[in-house]
Amino acid sequence: MNPSDLFSRLYSGEDSEKVYPKEVIEQAPEGVEDVLQTNLFNVMLNRRSQRKFESKEVEDWKMDMIYAAADTAPTAGGFQGFEIFHVKNPEIKLKLVEAANRQPYVNAPEVLVFCMNPERVKMSFPEEIIKKFSVQDATLAAAYAQLASHALGLSTIWIGMIDEKKVMEAIGTNLVPTSILCIGYPQKMLQPKPKRNLVDLIHVVQ
Ligand SMILES: Cc1cc2nc3c(=O)[nH]c(=O)nc-3n(C[C@H](O)[C@H](O)[C@H](O)COP(=O)(O)O)c2cc1C
Repeated sequence: MNPSDLFSRLYSGEDSEKVYPKEVIEQAPEGVEDVLQTNLFNVMLNRRSQRKFESKEVEDWKMDMIYAAADTAPTAGGFQGFEIFHVKNPEIKLKLVEAANRQPYVNAPEVLVFCMNPERVKMSFPEEIIKKFSVQDATLAAAYAQLASHALGLSTIWIGMIDEKKVMEAIGTNLVPTSILCIGYPQKMLQPKPKRNLVDLIHVVQ
């Protein structure tokens, strides 16, 4: 399938293949028009990590857009060497708090665990390279999901401080996690953090 936009991919018509075989939604959910007009550069510029979420859940259609955005990320060889676990169980969320050095905000309205799946990467390179590919695949997918979340008026916190084994036990997988992305409506919108000057960041090699 070669979708022209995320929306058509999620809510495809009768004739097109259905990537998400859920119910067919005839009309765009409220707010989708705004999403489609979102300027990527503004989303990037205004994204800010958030650790205080409102308790309300995120709408299913927004989560679907986030999944779809993650699914568009580039991956090594196009093999998509990653998996996403969407943790809904409140007890498992608490276990993830423990697994993340007791960072309380991991108990967020929506919790996505990104894991490596090197088995999917069918390339004849050394194991180390394949593992590295799947780390990058999972990381890029999480970054795409993070930007998509912000485009949808949500906020996120990226959690990298995790005990891999504890996370694996908590979600019941033998796949190694790379990060947890916590998503929700922010209690208040924060200003983006200042970043480095581009002249310090870019090293021109000629
Ligand atoms: C690889 C990585 C690991 C991170 N791990 C954590 C973490 O464990 N806990 C946390 O509160 N924030 C974590 N963060 C979020 C950063 O602290 C945050 O992105 C940084 O302070 C910059 O702020 P900004 O995202 O608002 O620009 C992580 C971010 C990245 C990219």
